[in-house]
Amino acid sequence: MTYDNTDQHIAVWDWSVRVFHWCLPVLIFLMWFTQDQNRMDWHFLLGEVLLGLLVYRLVWGFIGTPYARFSHFLYSPKTFITYATQLFSREKPRYLSHNPMGGLMVLVLMGAVIFQLVSGLFTTDDIFLSGPLYETVGRATSAWLSRWHRVFFDWLLILIGLHVAAIIFYKLLGEGLLKAMFTGKKKANKQHQDLLSGDVTVRFPWFRFVIAVAIAAAAVYGVFHIGYA
Ligand code: HEM
Ligand code: HEM
Repeated sequence: MTYDNTDQHIAVWDWSVRVFHWCLPVLIFLMWFTQDQNRMDWHFLLGEVLLGLLVYRLVWGFIGTPYARFSHFLYSPKTFITYATQLFSREKPRYLSHNPMGGLMVLVLMGAVIFQLVSGLFTTDDIFLSGPLYETVGRATSAWLSRWHRVFFDWLLILIGLHVAAIIFYKLLGEGLLKAMFTGKKKANKQHQDLLSGDVTVRFPWFRFVIAVAIAAAAVYGVFHIGYA
C-alpha cells in the first residue's frame, strides 16, 4: 500500500533525538559549572553521560528513524550551494528534517562538542587531575589537547550562539523550527523537498534503539572504566 503523507503531521524528530538535543545545552552548561566550582568528580561523571549521548546519536544517524539519519539530511555540495544562494528568500525550499544548511550545522556542532569532550579525555592539570585516556598518549600530545580543552570552550560557545541565531533568523523569515524540537512533529506539505513516501510515522524501532544504547554503553565503559594507567 502506498501512503500519501502530505497534510499529515509527520513524526520528524523521535523522542530520543529530542532528549539528546535538549540534554546538550543542559550538560554543556553543567560541564562549565562543575569545573568552575571545582567539582571535577561531577565534571568527569557528566562527561560519561555526554559521551554516551553522542555515541548514541552517531549510531542513530545510521540506524535510527528515517528523518534522523545522516543520509537523509546531508546533501551534495551542489544542493548545498543552490540552497545557500536562496537563503535570504522566503520562498526557499523547505525540508522536514534539517535543510542543507542545517545538516552542515549538525556536523559542525556535533564535531565541536565531540572535540571538546575528546580533548577532555586527555587533559591534565599537571598536578593531580587527568582525563581517563591521559596515559595513552605522550606528554606533548596531552599538553596540546589540555591547552585546546581550555581554549576551545569559548569557540564552542560562539558556535552555539550562531546556532541559536540561525534558528531566530529562520523564524524571522517565516520558518519556525523550534516547536518541532519539542513536539517532534511537522505538518507535511508538497513544498517539503525531503518528504518520504510510505508509512514512516508509526512505530519506534525499539530493537535498533537497544543496539544503539548498547554501543553507547560499551563506548562509555571502554573509555572510562577499563583503566589505562
Ligand atoms: C549547547 C547548546 C546546543 C547545542 C550543542 C545544539 C546542537 C544541536 C544539534 C547537534 C542539532 C541537530 C539535532 C539532531 O539532529 O540530533 C540541533 C538542532 C536544533 N537545535 Fe540545537 N543545540 C543547542 C542549543 C539549542 C537551543 C538553545 C535552541 C533553541 C533556540 C536550539 C534549537 C534547535 C533546533 C530548532 C534544532 C532543529 C533545527 C532544524 O530543524 O534543522 N538548540 N541543535
Ligand atoms: C563537552 C564537554 C566538556 C566541556 C564543555 C568542558 C569544559 C571545561 C572547561 C570550561 C574547563 C576549564 C578550562 C579552564 O581552566 O579555563 C575544563 C577543564 C577540565 N576538563 Fe573539561 N569539559 C568537557 C569534558 C571533559 C571531559 C570528558 C573530561 C575528562 C573526563 C574533562 C576533563 C577536564 C579537566 C581534567 C580539566 C582541568 C584542566 C585544568 O584545570 O588544567 N572535561 N573543562
